[in-house]
Parts: sequence; structure tokens; C-alpha cells
Amino acid sequence: MRRVRFHGGSGSRILRGATGGCGPATPARIGRPGSSTPAPPDSKVEAGSAEGRRGRRPIKPPMQDQFHGGIGGDAMPARTYVALNRKGGVGKTSTCFHWGGELARRGQRVLLIDLDPQRNLTDKLLMDPETGEVPEVPYEETVAALFDPEVYVEDRASLVRPTRHANVSVLPGAHRMEHLNMGNPATDDRQLVLRDFVDEVRDRFDSIICDCPPNIMIGSWAAMAAGDGVIVPLQAEDFGAMGLKLLNESLVQVRREANPGLALLGYLLMMYDDKSPLHRAYAQTIRDSYPGRVLETAVPVSRDLKMAVTTGLPITLFKPRSKAAKVMQALCDELLARDGSAELKEVA
Ligand SMILES: Nc1ncnc2c1ncn2[C@@H]1O[C@H](COP(=O)(O)OP(=O)(O)O)[C@@H](O)[C@H]1O
Ligand SMILES: [Mg+2]
Repeated sequence: MRRVRFHGGSGSRILRGATGGCGPATPARIGRPGSSTPAPPDSKVEAGSAEGRRGRRPIKPPMQDQFHGGIGGDAMPARTYVALNRKGGVGKTSTCFHWGGELARRGQRVLLIDLDPQRNLTDKLLMDPETGEVPEVPYEETVAALFDPEVYVEDRASLVRPTRHANVSVLPGAHRMEHLNMGNPATDDRQLVLRDFVDEVRDRFDSIICDCPPNIMIGSWAAMAAGDGVIVPLQAEDFGAMGLKLLNESLVQVRREANPGLALLGYLLMMYDDKSPLHRAYAQTIRDSYPGRVLETAVPVSRDLKMAVTTGLPITLFKPRSKAAKVMQALCDELLARDGSAELKEVA
């Protein structure tokens, strides 16, 4: 078994089914079929009073035990969200990072799942802020382990790692996810692997956020099959309607074939400049074309947001009083308000 060094961790405390806070990473219990894999630890899963997957939950006070998800038996199973767009560079990863950070700041236990082979989210979450170093994560201990039939994971929950942020955990991404993204996802046997995984760990978290690659291959498809709500970050310069049309078709197909409860939480205007006539025209067009689907909150181009990502801190921790932090808080409020709305399960 390979152990993974976690920079910034202290001491030799071994986490069991780690779900939040800073500290050493949990070594995943992993092997290949037939290998002599060590027995998994007793991974403790809190028994939440499961009031159903789809209810709204009040914001919790910060956790007392930041090394383990769960402060009591009142937890509801996590809501699962998916940041999706077939285009790269539109702000999917940034949205996941800042939104997840803000939910955690409010006391939620957050799991971020990195499905993008670029692994930007993983790197930012696991980066040592002083050295900029990112610890090595063996392939078998990444999200790819769920998708790769060559990898056998005995205790899948142990793939989840703590980060240096209290209440934030990550299921790390893998560059080699690229190779697993082949074929038609709609007929792929693996389309429910993420849903099964989420079902296993959802009692330990309040929110699970999936960062998708810029395509709708198996990773994004599986995220939609596992999700409660999809958020689509958009840049206000992409007037080609084809991308959104294809995305909407995929969403409808996943809803029809795998996940009838999947809602479209909304389109998020990202890097929006309200002084730009082009951006304003785009915003008007998309609001007219898709009434009710575009989020009120638009995220401006912001140096602070970029700096926050560079330093590995969500904006509401990096510069809590900045305009960008206020926008992220407003986004978080709006998404929480929209989540669970029945009519969003109809639209695509
Ligand atoms: N609101 C913003 N203001 C300034 N830069 C941003 C903003 N949102 C994203 N960026 C930057 O744009 C680039 C692409 O964003 P990213 O979140 O990685 O997009 P994606 O995940 O869709 O590829 C990154 O360098 C990111 O820091
Ligand atoms: Mg990304």
C-alpha cells in the first residue's frame, strides 16, 4: 500500500473515512483483484436521519470535529451538484472552488469531486500554500479508481481526502481520466459508478460538488446521473447556441434514462462585465431565450477571484469584504434558494 504525504499535516493521526478539515490524508485501502490488500478501517458513517435525498437543509454551525464529518445524528444526506459546460475556460472549476469554500465557511461539510483530467481543482485544494507543492496522489487513489475496471478499491469511501480547509474534502482527479473518457456515455456500463459512490458517502456531507471536464463524456455523464442539480457557467461572449443545445439534450436524456430528479439549477454568467455592450447584449439574449434559467447573480471579471485561486483560498476566506466575495455569497444564497424547486426538474 502506498502512503501519501500530505504537506501541512501534523503528526501521525490516521483518519478514518476522512471527511473534512486539515490533517494527514487517509491512505486509501486499494488493491487489484486478487491482491493481498490490507483490511479497510472501520469506516464510520454517521447515521443521519435521512429525511429524503431531496429536502432543503438549514445551514449548520461550524463543525467541532473537523477531522470527521458529522457532529451528530441530525445530518441529512448531501445534496449533489454538477458544474457543467462543454467549453473549457468558462469558470466551472472556479465556481466549484469558491462556492464549495463558501458553503464550508457557512459550516457545511463539503466534498468536491474532480472529474476533469486537468485536475486544477485537486491541485488548488491540496496545494501547500507556502511551497506551492502538490502532494502526489497515486492513480488508484483518485476518482479514476471508480471508473477504471482495472482498479479494485475495497473501501471506496477512503478515496476521499481532507484538505487544509476545515469542512472541505476532495475526491482527487487524475490526468489519466482522459483515457477513460471514450465511447458513448449513454450506453456505458460505468454511468452509475459515481451515483453509487455518492450514495455511499452522502451521509457524511451536506454538499457534494462535481467539477466536470469540458465535454460530456463518461465523467460528466456519471456526474449528471449522480446529481441533484446542474449549474452551467457561461461566458458572455459565446453566442454559438449549439453548445447549450447539446448540453440540454444530454441533460434531458440523463433525466429520462438515469436520473429523473436532476434539476437545472441555472446558467451562471461568469466573468461578466456589465460595462461591456457585448456582454449586456448576450445577457439579454440568453435571458430572453431561456426565461427563468439564468441566475440573477452574475460573477464579474475579478482579479481578487483569480488571486484567491492562485493562493489556494476560496474568495470568501481570501478577501471576505471584497466585491467578489459578496457576489459569491449572493450566488450561494441564490443556489440554495433555487435548489429543490420542483419546476427546475422540468427545464433543460
Ligand atoms: N470571475 C472571474 N474573474 C477573473 N478570472 C476568472 C473568473 N472566473 C474564472 N477566471 C479565470 O479563468 C480561467 C478559467 O477558469 P476555470 O474556472 O478554470 O474554467 P473551466 O473550469 O471552465 O475551464 C482561470 O484562469 C480562472 O482563474
Ligand atoms: Mg476546469
